[in-house]
Amino acid sequence: MEGKETLLEAISRLKREKNAVIMAHYYQREEVQRIADRVGDSLALARYAATTSADVIVMCGVHFMGETAKILCPDKKVIVPGGREAGCSLADSCEAGAFRRFIEEHPGHTVISYVNTSAAVKALTDIVVTSGNALKIVDSLPQEEKIIFGPDRNLGGYINALTGRDMVLWPGACHVHDRFSLEAILEMKRQHPGAKVLVHPECKRPLQLIADKVGSTAALLDFAREDEATEFIVVTESGILFEMQRACPDKTFLPAPGEDMSCRCNECEYMKMGTLEGVLEALRSGEPEVTVDEATARMAVKPILRMLELSK
Ligand code: 13P
Ligand code: SF4
Repeated sequence: MEGKETLLEAISRLKREKNAVIMAHYYQREEVQRIADRVGDSLALARYAATTSADVIVMCGVHFMGETAKILCPDKKVIVPGGREAGCSLADSCEAGAFRRFIEEHPGHTVISYVNTSAAVKALTDIVVTSGNALKIVDSLPQEEKIIFGPDRNLGGYINALTGRDMVLWPGACHVHDRFSLEAILEMKRQHPGAKVLVHPECKRPLQLIADKVGSTAALLDFAREDEATEFIVVTESGILFEMQRACPDKTFLPAPGEDMSCRCNECEYMKMGTLEGVLEALRSGEPEVTVDEATARMAVKPILRMLELSK
């Protein structure tokens, strides 16, 4: 940093000098969300990346989000402050070689993959979806179309239940969302009978069934903003509470416990790897840069563009 420049001043100077944009997912630390130019869910971040005029994208999120941005903008420099370490247990539950064999075992199926996947898995995919558009996109396909859905079995099960389809599901899950306990949330509900329950579709089916709203991070936020209730039990990663509270200062948001009332397992440690120091370092050094090999990117961009087209 130059002279007495603070961390925040240095970030904003370097951002100007490098013509950079800072994007952050709702699960990022509060201080990172505060300095971001754009905060959003996975779908919004992909849309921002596709349209930005910046030369450098600092993607404060997990690695697959940086890969998606890089695939959409191959000429831009994309940096994820946490680097490859900022992974995703759901993306890791679906290794590309094994997914290819799964597809081969189910010939004649359209392959739909959640955005929480590696570039290599996207390259094997027909249509990418996010939790914000998965239901709409699956619903837009003919009822008789045979579909493989990966890697999240809970989101896939949710769509199967709502559409009456029988998509073949890859058995993956997110370690944060899969750990929320129905009993603990029912106990919270007993203590706060007026509270509405907001559930991300990566949670297990019984939690989806007791929800007042199931949706992506952005959809849960919209519901909280618009609903007349003043108290909500939030069953997703706890980073979202910052934006909920900022958007609705007069409402109360209660983070749902994970496996038990005392654990902090409603936090995604990968998302928390994004820090202000990391953003500064990313702007200063241009590292750790996200790279996707050209052949993979050429294949992976098609299902991502298809998603953007189908979710307009
Ligand atoms: P959204 O698509 O709702 O932003 O969720 C991304 C994610 O990683 C959920 O765990
Ligand atoms: Fe991946 Fe789960 Fe973290 Fe979302 S919360 S980034 S699905 S590990």
